[in-house]
Amino acid sequence: MRHVMSPLDLSVEELEQILNLAADIKANPKKYAHACDGKKLATLFYEPSTRTRLSFEAAMLNLGGSVLGFSSADSSSASKGESVADTIRIISSYADICAMRHPKEGAPYVASMYSKIPVINAGDGGHQHPTQTLADLMTIRSEKGRLDHFTIGLCGDLKFGRTVHSLIKALIRYPGIRFVLISPEELRLPDYIRDDVLKANNQDFREEVRLEDALPDLDLLYMTRVQKERFFNEEDYVRMKDFYILDKAKLALAKDDMLVLHPLPRVNEIATEVDDDPRAVYFKQAQYGVYVRMALILTLLEVEVC
Ligand code: NCD
Repeated sequence: MRHVMSPLDLSVEELEQILNLAADIKANPKKYAHACDGKKLATLFYEPSTRTRLSFEAAMLNLGGSVLGFSSADSSSASKGESVADTIRIISSYADICAMRHPKEGAPYVASMYSKIPVINAGDGGHQHPTQTLADLMTIRSEKGRLDHFTIGLCGDLKFGRTVHSLIKALIRYPGIRFVLISPEELRLPDYIRDDVLKANNQDFREEVRLEDALPDLDLLYMTRVQKERFFNEEDYVRMKDFYILDKAKLALAKDDMLVLHPLPRVNEIATEVDDDPRAVYFKQAQYGVYVRMALILTLLEVEVC
């Protein structure tokens, strides 16, 4: 039985297979419509979510399966003090696979230790978010045609942004990737990613504070929201929240074929006037999220569709 806590739980070959499967699902959805008949997905969400939870649920429904779960800690027995370990012990007998989001780093990992069914980390605190990475990789591969040899700017809250941490872990395994880390001083990438992942792998990267200084070099720009819920005080959040705003004027500094990605939700960091620019692919990215989650569910449940 397999769990997915980080993108590194999947080899480059497995990622390739998942992305190929996701592309086939997108092209031939009917072929997969009964692949998971009789199977159940549990979504255990202790933290707010729109896309991740609903795309997991849509994924299982598209495969003919069913879904059960909760969408906030308040509506689960966590509010009565139940541990993640006890909850997953029970859910293991109610469902075949589970996606868990939790505000505490490592909570889905704890669940995986007590689980009899595959556990997928759907975001743990400021740590990792591997299925968002699958959506990001499918977007890059589909829209750029490759997952190697490009310069990617990661902009915004690199400290608490788990999508960025997972994307970096996934991309260092492809050749010719250059990272430009664009953040205010206070929201720089944590050492456990900068030193243990980037430096330890001799990865090419540089850090910038001004988006304008980075933009002309980029093939991809990955914007992120300042993670309000991870701040210790409101004042710091308010000071940081509008540090970056990508608008049409700034986008004019970018290459004609640079793509703009964002895991969403967007707050102010991308002006809505950018949405119509052909380089903006963030809404497509959210659609790809359903196909990759379908592919991941099939892979973890070892369902083969001929
Ligand atoms: C991201 C998350 O939850 O980390 N959202 C998502 O899953 N698409 C990004 C965010 O909340 O800013």
